[in-house]
Amino acid sequence: MILEVKNIEKAFGRKPVLKDINFLLEPGSITGIVGENGSGKTVLMEIIVGVKKAQKGKVHINGKLGYCPQKAMLFSHLTVKEHFDYFSIAYELDKTQSKLRTEELLDHFNFGKYKQERIINLSGGTQQKLNLSLALLHQPNLLILDEPYNGFDWETYERFWNYTTTLKNQGCAILIVTHLLSEKVRLDRIYKLENGILV
Ligand SMILES: Nc1ncnc2c1ncn2[C@@H]1O[C@H](COP(=O)(O)OP(=O)(O)OP(=O)(O)O)[C@@H](O)[C@H]1O
Ligand SMILES: [Mg+2]
Repeated sequence: MILEVKNIEKAFGRKPVLKDINFLLEPGSITGIVGENGSGKTVLMEIIVGVKKAQKGKVHINGKLGYCPQKAMLFSHLTVKEHFDYFSIAYELDKTQSKLRTEELLDHFNFGKYKQERIINLSGGTQQKLNLSLALLHQPNLLILDEPYNGFDWETYERFWNYTTTLKNQGCAILIVTHLLSEKVRLDRIYKLENGILV
């Protein structure tokens, strides 16, 4: 298994958000998480990646993690290229790998022309392309994607799914928070987060 989530419980003050969350992700799978606004999807993703702590339960990750947060965490005064460089260092990619992956992603998501632009000058969709690309940069085998295509145009959206399907075929386990019912066919499994449990 690439991801094991066991008996996760989380409350904010006296308000329980997650009550008893259990699931596994196997290699080469795409799993969707749906649920109404405020049901706890983002909190669950943040617990899995270690941004938030659960009061109870365990998360076990077997491999390299890539995380695309719902709210992009980008540095407004750095350029696109500087983000790729910065994350390459964090992921310990060497210069050749970093350059290759950067060019591949800029090309695949069609935003190479913004390479030297600062984040403050970019459109929302282009910022989201970067947010997603940074999660993919180090070729993770577990991808946690929290509404990753917010603001994508139609072609980018299609390219996103082509990319994810290729990763799945290479053995990557993908967990994706989505609101789009039209995506059902692309997913191997769908969980609904309702009243703090997955159904
Ligand atoms: N730091 C926090 N302090 C208090 N409550 C919080 C905190 N973070 C999240 N919550 C609450 O936890 C609940 C779940 O929030 P979460 O962001 O996980 O929802 P979501 O399912 O991702 O919603 P959306 O579809 O709008 O993205 C909400 O009621 C939210 O107000
Ligand atoms: Mg959310």
